[in-house]
Amino acid sequence: MPIEVSIKKGYDEISKRAAKIIADAIRNKPNLVLGLATGSTPIGCYRELVRMHKEEGLDFSRVVTFNLDEYIGLSPTHPQSYRYFMDQKLFNYVNIKRENTHVPNGLSDDFQKTCEEFEEAIKKSEGIDLQLLGIGTTGHIAFNEPGSPFDSRTRVVNVSEQTIKDNVRFFKSIDEVPRQVISMGTGTIMEAREIILLASGAGKADAVAKSVNGPVTEEVPASILQTHPNCTFIIDEAAASKLESI
Ligand code: PGA
Repeated sequence: MPIEVSIKKGYDEISKRAAKIIADAIRNKPNLVLGLATGSTPIGCYRELVRMHKEEGLDFSRVVTFNLDEYIGLSPTHPQSYRYFMDQKLFNYVNIKRENTHVPNGLSDDFQKTCEEFEEAIKKSEGIDLQLLGIGTTGHIAFNEPGSPFDSRTRVVNVSEQTIKDNVRFFKSIDEVPRQVISMGTGTIMEAREIILLASGAGKADAVAKSVNGPVTEEVPASILQTHPNCTFIIDEAAASKLESI
């Protein structure tokens, strides 16, 4: 199944489109199991979901969420932790129940167990209905970097040098960027029933083109999405600018 590509003018448009898909899915199934992503790209989508909650009564009271990843060593209140990010960008401003939100625990004393319990919790919820993704300049999805096995599950991974460089903008210095994360595996992500991937800006154009038009290879982790039965890339014109050239 080729990846469906929806090209919008700019960042606002991709954010609104993604939020509308998520909102419709929640209205259709109030106990939706929603996979969430962090990073700069989904912020506009979360802002729009908060607006829909406030102005249109979009109801998160039965929604269950699973986040893709968390930095090892950062507490839930650390400003760069992904739990903190989710609280600040979405959870604190909608009526979601905290116990229904799952972000891997970056301070666990048994990471193997944390990863197994995370996978178990997804299974108990009967799987992820709709997974939101970003894409890294390396073509990564979550922290599944080039070379990650397509059948990987939630586990501890080392962050690649490129991704450390890409993420340093959120930290005071490169030394503060954590070197390890807990990340959902590519195999875990692929089990979601529907996937939407957001990309904005020319910096993502190469990764997008390789993922959509290139060969399916572990060297481009997002290329596996070509084999998913229901995956849409919602991208702006800049991120789409290299699509024909591969
Ligand atoms: P970004 O990150 O949204 O901050 O560009 C996306 C990703 O690395 O998956």
